[in-house]
Amino acid sequence: MSGSEGSAKREQWGSRIGFIMAAAGSAIGLGNIWRFPYLVGKDGGAAFVVIYLIITVFIGFPVMMAEFAIGRAAQKAPVLAFRALGVNPFWSLIGWMGTIAGGFFTLSFYNVVGGWTIKYIIASLTGLMEVADVGKTGEFFGEFVVRSYEVVFYQILFMLITMGVVVGGISKGIERACKVLMPTLFVIMLILIVRSVTLPGAGAGLKFYLHPDFTKVTGETFLDALGQSFFSLSLGLGIMLTYGSYIGKEERIPSSSAWTAGLDTLIALLAGLAIFPAVFAMGFEPGSGAGLSFITLPAVFAKMPAGMIFSCLFFLLLFFAAVTSAMSLLEVAVTFAIEKFHMTRKKAVCVMSVIIILLGIPSAMSLAGDLKIYGKDFMDAIEYICNNVLLPIGSFLASIFVGWFWLKPAIKEITNDGQVQFRWLNTWIWCVRFVSPIAIAYIFYAGLTW
Ligand code: TRP
Repeated sequence: MSGSEGSAKREQWGSRIGFIMAAAGSAIGLGNIWRFPYLVGKDGGAAFVVIYLIITVFIGFPVMMAEFAIGRAAQKAPVLAFRALGVNPFWSLIGWMGTIAGGFFTLSFYNVVGGWTIKYIIASLTGLMEVADVGKTGEFFGEFVVRSYEVVFYQILFMLITMGVVVGGISKGIERACKVLMPTLFVIMLILIVRSVTLPGAGAGLKFYLHPDFTKVTGETFLDALGQSFFSLSLGLGIMLTYGSYIGKEERIPSSSAWTAGLDTLIALLAGLAIFPAVFAMGFEPGSGAGLSFITLPAVFAKMPAGMIFSCLFFLLLFFAAVTSAMSLLEVAVTFAIEKFHMTRKKAVCVMSVIIILLGIPSAMSLAGDLKIYGKDFMDAIEYICNNVLLPIGSFLASIFVGWFWLKPAIKEITNDGQVQFRWLNTWIWCVRFVSPIAIAYIFYAGLTW
């Protein structure tokens, strides 16, 4: 039994840029490239984007700083962090909820979709374009997701790749991978944008994306924007708390958070810029929901010259984005197992991954048929509970905790014990004490519909 790892010197990120790449790698994921554009399509284009940006600046960013601060102060996995800080054990609830909802449940469906991206990289090269030529991308997707054994195969493949990185640890595994993958992702994104906005007829897409129509805004728009902001920034489930626990004491939390949140928002906005002009130019509708990436886009690519290459690049982009996020989700479960049960990293990665794969199988199979929970597909139900219920609750509790019960130590942590000036300190305090909890509570209450 090797119980030494929990008490041995804790690992740290190798460099500041490495940490920011890893945190951005966690934040930038399917949420940015798959989910953000389809929500924009569904919730009325630019109006949604404006609301999203405001929420991210005043709610998401302050909560991210709070999570980093808790993590770095405690130097522990989320479930143990609050005990390490010596506060009321009630707050450990945040850690438990986050670990279960994030490390286990979110990852369980995340790796199903991650598996689809691998399938689509391969399909792009082996006939997806011919299928799209005859207008059958919907059928292609529909027939793929009901072949459960195949979906599960790709889900496991995706998970194995994630495991392969996480087993290497914080600086030699996750950081090293993100330092290569994130810049590559950015370059691919730029190639796709140039292609998209130079297509004849791209203007209509730009207008839809950049010209707000506030008549489409409803309560649901706000809930979607809030849920998306937290999901995209990887908040509320202890991820940033875990990543924060590996940062050095000299690191500046405000600027690291600003970089992470800024890069995440940039990539989401760029994803829209890559997608909408092309969708409109080729005469498609943007409001196709979750099918936007997997059904509409292949059809869009098929109409372009050299569409196969762009299709392949797009799904590669989606895969890189997904795998760096999956690493962060798995790391939460792994840090938990190492510190709570004193497992070695290798064992923790194996045990946790098996649990997560098993949990994901119902999600993978639910697409094939009638595995439903109160009328929702199993996968939709899990996603709904994580994103619209547990994630806001986690963030709400984290801001209440920091704003009202742990403010002084948090300020100490954020300013590196008074050595770092943070110009917006008062605004931040105001946000975590009032703006975030009230906004989260209200939007949560108003938007809760099954
Ligand atoms: N932020 C990632 C995305 O945009 C997903 C993700 C990773 C996540 N870690 C998370 C979401 C933690 C919520 C909580 O796809």
